[in-house]
Amino acid sequence: MLTSTQELLETASRNIYAIGAFNVYNLEGVKAVVQAAEAASSPSMLQIHPSALKYGGSALMALCLEAADKALVPMSVHLDHSTSSDAIQMGLAGGLRSIMADGSPFPYEKNLEFTRAMTELAHSYGAVVEAEIGRISGTEDGLTIAEKEAKMTDPDQAVEFVHETGVDSLAVTIGNVHGKYQSEPRLDFNRLETIRRRINIPLVLHGASGLPASMISQSIERGVSKFNVNTEVRQAYMQILKTGACNLPDSDLLECMDDVIDAMKQVIMGKFDLFGSTNKAHLHQSPYMAASSRS
Ligand code: 13P
Repeated sequence: MLTSTQELLETASRNIYAIGAFNVYNLEGVKAVVQAAEAASSPSMLQIHPSALKYGGSALMALCLEAADKALVPMSVHLDHSTSSDAIQMGLAGGLRSIMADGSPFPYEKNLEFTRAMTELAHSYGAVVEAEIGRISGTEDGLTIAEKEAKMTDPDQAVEFVHETGVDSLAVTIGNVHGKYQSEPRLDFNRLETIRRRINIPLVLHGASGLPASMISQSIERGVSKFNVNTEVRQAYMQILKTGACNLPDSDLLECMDDVIDAMKQVIMGKFDLFGSTNKAHLHQSPYMAASSRS
């Protein structure tokens, strides 16, 4: 059942759990998320990174939208980390109604300007927008504490940014990183609490792969209602390609793909448990008018 991202996040926030948004690249990834969500009776999101969009184009968007629509649980389809208006325009034209306008690589003023323009555009399609201020991307290694803090979301700036851009959700940087955590993750929960007190739109945490259960639950208690997961699911996929049914001399492609889907599904179901969304599908009751919004 294709549902609006805003409904997913707001219902999760009210009931103190979070929605898992999983990056997908192909049919196997989409099947893994949908099957896991149905098996766990959990709401969820399919997420397409612009590099995957470049690879899969409108066919990948159509696949995700159809799979979400046919799913027995509430799901939305989201365009991840878009730093260009081209990707956003392509996503909107392809029927996506949830996008991330990511101006975080730019200086603050340019981020503000880019996000404001993309939000206006997305809203004109009835789409919702996630944006980000602060930036810790790949690694924290080699940075001093002061340098790390400078890249984290500044609560005062966050208030101004949300007010000036009209975005619908905000990705915060509180020590989270994409990819593998090179050392023990350390999240600044005081900062998260301050941001939550001052901003009333849903908060998002990227880089959820590798975060321990205690940090996930503390983040949810302090207002995070969406976690982005990519690395762990992708690793499960790659691992099976190197082993099991995929690595036998006479390996059968369909058996190999079944194993791949199953491996990703196990990781995703584990995340639903951590995010508290298992068995929460029934709480979401506002199906999105998919057909009308795609026209
Ligand atoms: P991970 O690859 O660390 O799971 O992060 C995914 C992400 O934040 C995608 O936007």
